[in-house]
Amino acid sequence: MLSLFSKQPKAIVARAQDDYATKLRLKYKPYYHAMEAQQGTRITLDGREMVMLSSNDYLGLSFHPQVIESVATATRRWGTSTTGARISNGSRGYHTELEEKLAAFLDREACHVSVAGYISCCSAVASFAQKGDVIVADKNIHSCLWDGVRLSMATVERFSHNNPADLREVLQTIPAKTPKLMVVEGVYSMEGHICQLPEIAKLAEESGSFLVLDDAHGLGVLGRQGRGTADHFGVNAQVDLVCGSMSKSLAATGGFVAGSRDLIEYLRTNSKQTIFSAALSPAMAAVASTSLDLLQSEPEHLDRLWRNTRRYRELLHGLGLDTWGSETPAVPIVLGSKEAVYRFWQALLKKGVFTVMSIAPAVPPGKDLIRTAISARHSDEDFERIAEAMAYAVKQL
Ligand SMILES: Cc1ncc(COP(=O)(O)O)c(C=O)c1O
Repeated sequence: MLSLFSKQPKAIVARAQDDYATKLRLKYKPYYHAMEAQQGTRITLDGREMVMLSSNDYLGLSFHPQVIESVATATRRWGTSTTGARISNGSRGYHTELEEKLAAFLDREACHVSVAGYISCCSAVASFAQKGDVIVADKNIHSCLWDGVRLSMATVERFSHNNPADLREVLQTIPAKTPKLMVVEGVYSMEGHICQLPEIAKLAEESGSFLVLDDAHGLGVLGRQGRGTADHFGVNAQVDLVCGSMSKSLAATGGFVAGSRDLIEYLRTNSKQTIFSAALSPAMAAVASTSLDLLQSEPEHLDRLWRNTRRYRELLHGLGLDTWGSETPAVPIVLGSKEAVYRFWQALLKKGVFTVMSIAPAVPPGKDLIRTAISARHSDEDFERIAEAMAYAVKQL
């Protein structure tokens, strides 16, 4: 007989305690490393100084003196938090200033910022698609976009990664009158691939699909002064919405959605992620705003980022490593099995280089890899350390 006062452990507690993936993570400790200190590209972990080779601080602005100073100034002026949502008591002048600056930079009429790229990108999909629509998605899009897909209640059709020919075939199976939302990324950070945006945008035009571009890893990296992937290809006008993160090249945290005024006002009315979440903090808005200024006034960071990227790719290819055809500063090292990835990652760690493992099912079977990313701030000394560590890790395979 069922008893309300059963002595059995609660089913959900038992499931959490028995979770195999969690047990494995706690045993091998590959993730959640709490670093004791950081200065630029150098971190301290377990008392040892290491080179950080997997952060998305592409332009290296997170230790820029002007960026750091802007946090203190903004906090003195606005306090630490608005403690409220934008729709109610949380909107401030610093939000609208940042939105206008970002919109102008991206050549858009309007922009809306939030506390995380995850929230912004999720809302860029969830707020615009609805039941009865079809979302056509690159199969490798980020988790936040998949969450947006699910929340929208629309039907989803996947096309093979960055493959306009397959996209064309998928579009042919959807009735012409069905509203369609197409979603792609500007730069796929797991693979380092640049989106085939001109072909995809053309297909969006021809099929009447609303095109959403998540440019989290394209902003600050591609295009004039880092204006992103649409600018890089000159197809800005064919993209309906650009969303992204401020936690990468802009060295802050937070996210944005940019588009026409009508679309952004519609988002502000309909996005639950906006209506029910507290506003971006003064400190993080100040960081993003100052970084945007630096993208335009100090082009040397972008130049150095690409010089470093070419140098790094040559180094890896010289060692015979497979970088999955990466064309950007996000450079995977594909090793093909979780055992090889673990050995390689440990060897790098031993030689003072910090990277991140990515194994199936997070990547397709046989594509188990080490995630690395280059920054404008990586110095000659960093490169020496990286070269030595990579050569050593290759020998351990
Ligand atoms: C493509 C893409 N979109 C969105 C996000 C989420 O951004 P954030 O980390 O600012 O929440 C990320 C970050 O991992 C990303 O890679």
